[in-house]
Amino acid sequence: MKALILAGGKGTRLKPLTNTIAKQLLPVANKPILFYVLDQIKEAGITDVGIIISPETSPHIREAVRNGSRWDVQITYILQPEPLGLAHAVKTAQGFLDDSPFLMFLGDNLIQGGIAQFVERFNRDSPDALILLKPVKETHLFGIADLDEAGKVCHIEEKPEHPKSNLAVIGVYLFSPAVHEAIEHIKPSWRGELEITDTIQRLIDTGKNVQSYILDGWWLDTGKKDDLLEANRVVLDDFLERDIKGDIDVASQIVGRVEVRQGAKIKSSIIRGPVSIAEDCRIRNSFIGPFTSVGANTVVENSSIEHTVILENSRISKIERLADSVIGKSTEVLKQEQGFNALRLFLGDDAKVEL
Ligand code: DAU
Repeated sequence: MKALILAGGKGTRLKPLTNTIAKQLLPVANKPILFYVLDQIKEAGITDVGIIISPETSPHIREAVRNGSRWDVQITYILQPEPLGLAHAVKTAQGFLDDSPFLMFLGDNLIQGGIAQFVERFNRDSPDALILLKPVKETHLFGIADLDEAGKVCHIEEKPEHPKSNLAVIGVYLFSPAVHEAIEHIKPSWRGELEITDTIQRLIDTGKNVQSYILDGWWLDTGKKDDLLEANRVVLDDFLERDIKGDIDVASQIVGRVEVRQGAKIKSSIIRGPVSIAEDCRIRNSFIGPFTSVGANTVVENSSIEHTVILENSRISKIERLADSVIGKSTEVLKQEQGFNALRLFLGDDAKVEL
C-alpha cells in the first residue's frame, strides 16, 4: 500500500496567509496540518509516500518535510503544474503509484483517531474504493454521497446545488488500481477540474465495489479562516497535554493544559489552557485565554487574547481584547495611546480587518 498526499493547489480561500505559506503547512496547535497527516500515515504502517506539490507550494513543502526521515518514511515529490482537480493529481502521480493500491489524503484535512482501521478494512475486503463520509450542514461545499437502502454508495456528486443527502465525502480515500481506468473516462466538471467524485461515480456505474464508512469522530477541512480556528480549538482540546519547558516567573499563573515550549519567557501573565505557546515567545503583563496558539518568537505585551491563532515572529501590544482572530507571520498589532484617534493601518493584499 502506498500513500498519496495532495498538497498542491493555490490556497486561494486562505489568502493572505497563503501568500507566504502553503495552506497544508498552516499550524494547528503550533504544528503544520500536513505533519498530522504524515503522523497518521506512518501510524497506519505506510512508508512509501508521494506528495503532490504545485509550483506555489513546492518550496515550502519540500523545506518542511524534506526526505521524510522525521517520520521514517520515504517521500517522492510529484509536481502538478496546475491544480486541475483531485483526479488529475492521481493521474499526475500514476508513475509513482504504478499498480499499487493506495491511500489518498488531502493535505488540508484532519480526522480524529487516525486511519489505521480503514487501511486494515481495505486490505481485508479488497474493494475498489473505500470512502469516508460525515454528515454536514453546508452540503454545497463538499462532495456529497447518497446511500441506497442496503447502505451502498449509489450516487456521488461534487458540491451539488440540490443534494440528495447530507453525507460529505471526507478527504481520505482508499483505491485499488482500477481507479486509473475510471479517470481515463471522466471529463472536466463545470469548474474545469477532473473530479475524484466523478471518478468514484464512474467506478459505481461500471459495477466496481465502492464501500463507505460513516466517521464517528471529528473531521476538519482547514480550508477557510473559521475552519482554521475551529481546527485549532478541536486539536488543542483533544491532544494538548500540560508541558512547561519555558521560563515562568513567580508573578505568572498557568492554569490547566498549557504547553510552553523551550526558550519562551512568561512574565506577570495569566495563561488559561488549552493554550500552546511556541519556542522563544515573550509574554508580558498579558492574559492568554483558552483555545489560543502563539507561534514561535512572538511577543505579546499588555494584551488579552482568546480563541486566536498567531503565527511566528509577530507582536501584539496593548490590545485590550483580541478574540476569534488569525494573525499571520511577522505581523504587528499595536495600540498607540498618544494623540491618535485615527486608525493607522499597513495591511497586505487580501487582508480583512473587523473593528
Ligand atoms: O475536504 C473534502 C472535500 O475535498 C471533498 O468533499 C470534495 O469532494 C473534494 O473535491 C475536495 O473539495 P475542496 O474544494 O475542498 O478541494 P480543494 O480544492 O480545497 O483541494 C483539496 C486539497 O487537494 C488541497 O490540499 C489542495 C489539493 N489539490 C487540489 C486540487 C484541485 C491538489 O493537490 N491538486 C489539485 O488539482
